[in-house]
Amino acid sequence: LRNAAIAELKNISNLSSLEEYRVKYLGKKGELTKILRGMGGLSKEERPIVGKLVNEVREELETRIETMKTELNNKAKNKKLKEEKIDVTLPGNKVNFGHRHPLMKVLEELEDVFLKMGFEIVEGPEVETVYNNFDALNSPDNHPSRDKSDTFYITEDILLRTHTSPVQIRTMKEKNPPFKIVSAGRTFRFDDVDDTHSPMFHQLEGLVIDKNITMANLKHTIDMFIKELFGEEMKTRFRPHYFPFTEPSAEVDVSCLSCKGEGCPDCHGTGWSMELLGCGMVHPEVLKNCGLDPDEYSGFAFGLGVDRIAMVKYGINNIRLLFENDMRFLNQF
Ligand code: PHE
Repeated sequence: LRNAAIAELKNISNLSSLEEYRVKYLGKKGELTKILRGMGGLSKEERPIVGKLVNEVREELETRIETMKTELNNKAKNKKLKEEKIDVTLPGNKVNFGHRHPLMKVLEELEDVFLKMGFEIVEGPEVETVYNNFDALNSPDNHPSRDKSDTFYITEDILLRTHTSPVQIRTMKEKNPPFKIVSAGRTFRFDDVDDTHSPMFHQLEGLVIDKNITMANLKHTIDMFIKELFGEEMKTRFRPHYFPFTEPSAEVDVSCLSCKGEGCPDCHGTGWSMELLGCGMVHPEVLKNCGLDPDEYSGFAFGLGVDRIAMVKYGINNIRLLFENDMRFLNQF
């Protein structure tokens, strides 16, 4: 049996047949075990001799199997190493890194400037009540912006906010003055798409409420913000305007970014970038609507078009480019 077993081992070439082999001779029902079981039929004198012999053969086979196993393992490992050799000199796969959208870059830059100036960032929902978007902001019942042809209504009382100004209402109701907040996000108007209009666009709203806040504080804040964002040499120009929720109100123009005020084709020779910002002193009616006493508190608010600023800043002449996700455009930033 020993010689037969050893001869058979020579033919084994892989790990699974080695295991089969082990079971065949050494397993519970294996050949050697059979001999041990059959020892009952032997005489007293024969038993220790046969037992010793069987144990010797078992030990020998165990050692040989172990050696064989190591050999086969090594062989398999070497084969694998050979086959899976990596050529480190081959060029690697190109990884495409993502990056910030130009609009988000501008938005974060704007927020950073206001954070530096001591403002807090708050958030407001894109789906708003008609009350917060219009009524509480003192917008007259017949104001054209309320029209179904201008505003996306979800129900009679719920709409997609047409500006970020409803955040003013939410903030004044939630916070105790004094506070300085900005809030940026998406806004929606029923506009046809053209080079400068999109039914979805972005605004950044600012609101400051305290005792004794005046128009001078508003002008200074806007001035500082523009200089911080675009550079010291930039000038601002306040033109009287009307908003239902501020009085007095103004629209702000900023020195043309291309020529810094000299006059160039970009600004049609005027030296100004137009209408980047609307602002004004918070209307007493709006303060009252939010439970604040206009004799005690005053404040200013402003709203600016983020898409507009991104377009001016990066010289983008078509707002569609901001929302089409064309990689040829986005990869330029
Ligand atoms: N909500 C105004 C708009 O969308 C901008 C604005 C904000 C004006 C705050 C005054 C004060 O045009």
